[in-house]
Amino acid sequence: MPAKILDGNALSKQLRTQIATNSAILTAKGTKPGLAVVLVGNNPASQIYVRNKIKACHDANIHSELISLSENATQEELLSVIHGLNDNSSIHGILVQLPLPSQIDSHAVLESIDPEKDVDGFHVANAGALMTGKPLFIPCTPYGCMKMLESIDYPIRGARAVIVGASNIVGKPMAMLLLQAGATVTICNSKTKDLSAHTREADILVVATGKPKMILAQMVKPGAVVIDVGINRLPDGKLCGDVDYDEVKYVADWISPVPGGVGPMTITMLLQNTLEAAQHFHQKK
Ligand code: GUN
Repeated sequence: MPAKILDGNALSKQLRTQIATNSAILTAKGTKPGLAVVLVGNNPASQIYVRNKIKACHDANIHSELISLSENATQEELLSVIHGLNDNSSIHGILVQLPLPSQIDSHAVLESIDPEKDVDGFHVANAGALMTGKPLFIPCTPYGCMKMLESIDYPIRGARAVIVGASNIVGKPMAMLLLQAGATVTICNSKTKDLSAHTREADILVVATGKPKMILAQMVKPGAVVIDVGINRLPDGKLCGDVDYDEVKYVADWISPVPGGVGPMTITMLLQNTLEAAQHFHQKK
């Protein structure tokens, strides 16, 4: 029997209906949630992601602004845009789409965002708050993965979780969330020796490497939950994940597809974080 599907589209639809209702309620009270998305340069994948984020805001009764800067924009120009958004009371969330062009110091840019508007959760203050178990904003992709596990009532406490990929955006925050939920967590990276020995131990396997179809069926424990964060474009133009879906689905109990798995959940949790940022702002008014 093939694995059951962790359907990110269906779960997103449910959650976005709730977010749209709560946004309308907050708007009626005098605060319409607002998100600013900053895009620097012409990265084609980033352009698509940003367009999807803006459209999702519209459908969820969230005001959005897209600020596009050229590929040659300077650090000073970008910082000045962010300072303006930090001071703009109709904007409650700020997202700077990554990656940024090489002339820009990404770390300095992320640190310039007001932590109370940092709906990506990438500011060190928010990363630290997550690590100590008191997060203000949870990074959207790991947050979406946790919602998927919650949606199937997965018993995380005591489970063995293995994360392949140690990025600040996905792997590290994912590890913190699973650890706080009671899992025993291993984070693997590109230098890990005998990767299969680790992945085969996983009850929960989260893969975020950017390497198409790298997780093969023999690397997966029978009955595992496999969450595929990768979005890769193949030479024929089709999208695929970091997991060899067509084979792994015969080993796992649950698997997230690409597309239609984690991707829509990331955007959904961005909407949720923006709503929460606006709710905090409203309470302080
Ligand atoms: N690039 C890839 N994923 C993300 C994300 O979650 N947030 C931002 N800002 N950029 C990204």
